[in-house]
Amino acid sequence: MCGIVGYLGLNEKKEILLDGLQELEYRGYDSAGIAVIEGEKLNNFKALGKLENLREKTKAYHTEGFGVSIGHTRWATHGKPTELNAHPHVGAYSYVVHNGIIENYQALKEELQADGVKFLSQTDTETIVHLFEKNNKTANTVFSAFEETIERLDGAYATLLITEADADTIYFAKNGSPMLIGFNGDDVYFASSDTPIIGKATEVYYLEDGDYGYARQGEVKLFDAKGEKTFTKQALTADKVSAQKDGFRFFMEKEIYEQSHVMGETMMGRVLDENIAFDELDADFFKDIKAIKICACGTSYHSALTSSYLFERLSKIRCDIEIASEFRYKEPLLTDDTLFITISQSGETADTLEALKMAKRAGLKSLSICNVDNSSIIRESDAAILTRAGIEKGVASTKAFATQTMVLWMLALYVGQEKKSISKEVLKTEIEAMRKTPKSLLVEEKLHSQLTRMSKRYLHGHGFFFIGRDIFFPLALEGALKRKEISYFHAEGYPAGEMKHGPIALADSTLFTIALMPKTMHYEKMKSNVEELSARDATILAISPEPFELADDFIQTNYDSHPMLEFFEMMVVTQLLALEISVRLGNDVDMPRNLAKSVTVE
Ligand code: AGP
Repeated sequence: MCGIVGYLGLNEKKEILLDGLQELEYRGYDSAGIAVIEGEKLNNFKALGKLENLREKTKAYHTEGFGVSIGHTRWATHGKPTELNAHPHVGAYSYVVHNGIIENYQALKEELQADGVKFLSQTDTETIVHLFEKNNKTANTVFSAFEETIERLDGAYATLLITEADADTIYFAKNGSPMLIGFNGDDVYFASSDTPIIGKATEVYYLEDGDYGYARQGEVKLFDAKGEKTFTKQALTADKVSAQKDGFRFFMEKEIYEQSHVMGETMMGRVLDENIAFDELDADFFKDIKAIKICACGTSYHSALTSSYLFERLSKIRCDIEIASEFRYKEPLLTDDTLFITISQSGETADTLEALKMAKRAGLKSLSICNVDNSSIIRESDAAILTRAGIEKGVASTKAFATQTMVLWMLALYVGQEKKSISKEVLKTEIEAMRKTPKSLLVEEKLHSQLTRMSKRYLHGHGFFFIGRDIFFPLALEGALKRKEISYFHAEGYPAGEMKHGPIALADSTLFTIALMPKTMHYEKMKSNVEELSARDATILAISPEPFELADDFIQTNYDSHPMLEFFEMMVVTQLLALEISVRLGNDVDMPRNLAKSVTVE
């Protein structure tokens, strides 16, 4: 959530900050702001809404010579999305940007207010800058004032502070929210992920929780609870895989079309002729493992839920799935024969990361399935498998879900193979099906235009039920999530057999049911469930290879040989349907309201 960029050096600072924030905008776009100190000159700009508003506001502003600068793009947590609540937050002579949440901000704020400090915003962040200026009145050095400030903060934060009291320095601290320092000669960069500094910095250091310090031209000093800390920089890739729309209207659309290709990447070197290989895993990785527990959020949780059917069915290993934010506080019973798997596109989701830390503290072995290398979740895990989906920019996740599900399917076979719980014949059949997956993800023009036309009938209604059975139930959950996220309509995913236990009471002609009716899995049972809804006048959109006479709308998929192939084909249909409805409603497909790509707050 939110994005931070900082730069110290001689280059044009405004452009570095704005370009960097552009890369992070998908993480939050309620407001954006920058602050620059050059010599004695301090400049600060903020704008509500997308970054283009800040660009417009700073059109006439240019920086010259050496200076320090910080920038931020915000996803509101404390306080409404207003210009006053936008970062950087200002004290009397200092500016601060911050990601995360200061949990004890209310107590700190009251203390500062009692000293006569006037707060301009409703944010937790503003306490940092006032606390710093209060400490600076009595501290021996500006750095000790910053150190004393950090010591008093509870919660998760990554923060940068600049001050006229020490105008050529950037102060930084990280605890629980991601932050890195980039280096190029005497120039120093800061960012909450590496994309803003690729092509600018040549080396990087990923800050660890508890790290803080300061940067001056050509000098970075790092500290933690034990005192000054030596650190090793690592090379930063110069290859900026900048995600462009490639002629598509939206990143989400491009990412849906990319799924067939990236699936090939996900499988490369892993799906072999007769077995599954993961170079990332030691030969005895699963030796003492008797059960699997998976934790994730949102779409990643849906891929986890899909895999629970696959692990138990194919690898004969017990598999429990948990929503990370629930898992954290349920005081779970954990045993060290359980492998703890986290799934995350971004690798920065706070709840998932904290769940992982909990599992590690309980002594569990951990594995992450993630799309972003070097992310916090990967760095925290014992082993990691990259999904190789490439940068996903659309806030509504598509290709990340497809590749996560594929990795989990492969992993289910791998576990079966390692534990000898899967027969050679079943393994062969599964691998054959897997190889056909890229084809089942190809978007046919005919299908896309059918969904574009059909979408006009789904712009109203009091509810949308996506229903399915078995692995098509998590797919129904995912289809409903896509519908909610970008069209702002109420939608639910439901196990088809469960409708009669309550939700069927809602059935009438403006209750839309999107029925996932694969031919390879429980077709007859599914058909009966849909008939029950149709008999109560619900409007039915059936997605199936088999024509269904009670359907009000019908999308015909291919007769595939394997449920997973039907799964992926139907996944594309639900993604395109959500996209086309959102386009018709005139919504912002890539940056839907109230959301952010990476949720780094609890
Ligand atoms: C997906 O469309 C969502 N935007 C959201 O549910 C997301 O999957 C969730 O926040 C988890 O993110 P992660 O995969 O980066 O951990």
